[in-house]
Amino acid sequence: MSIAIYPGSFDPVTCGHLDIIRRSSKMFDTVIVAVLNNSAKKPLFSLTERVALIEKCTADIPNCKAMCFDGLLVDFAEQQGATAIIKGLRTISDFEYEYQMAQLNKNLNSNIETLFMVTNANYSYISSSVVKEIASLGGDFTSLVPDEIYENVRQKIEKGR
Ligand code: COA
Repeated sequence: MSIAIYPGSFDPVTCGHLDIIRRSSKMFDTVIVAVLNNSAKKPLFSLTERVALIEKCTADIPNCKAMCFDGLLVDFAEQQGATAIIKGLRTISDFEYEYQMAQLNKNLNSNIETLFMVTNANYSYISSSVVKEIASLGGDFTSLVPDEIYENVRQKIEKGR
């Protein structure tokens, strides 16, 4: 049984993330979307809220599940019996950072491979921060997040104002 981990902050999940989730769920028996803390970021949504948002927009993907973890990515991957970490690449600059992360994770646990998936060109300019910025400035972000979670994001931003 092949299990892959798709990790990220997902604060919130975007259409770009969902595209990677859909494509990778065709390649693996199970894809676990792992919501982890990036120590460099101050999140808008809690870990459990982020998991709930992912569950909402992946309800039609039976071999996908969302979980959160507060520790090292490779430890979570091993705990889940995963053999691969999937990372989406949007730009060349993503590659530089991700290459370093992949080497680091390989060094921490040599049994887990990092696989890079090229982001769909339609979503290469999206990031969770861009979504939050546009939403907080009252712009139209309907095409950036899955329809299922649009209201959740709008309300959260509204509350934080
Ligand atoms: N479509 C749209 N957006 C995408 C995307 C895609 N296909 N791929 C990446 N992005 C966006 C993300 O939303 C994120 O946006 P943001 O910076 O506005 O939040 C940005 O690109 C960077 O993504 P990524 O590099 O995956 O960072 P991340 O913060 O989402 O996730 C973790 C990083 C959580 C996976 C990493 O910090 C981690 O592994 N933490 C656990 C602790 C650990 O093991 N540390 C050592 C790791 S070496």
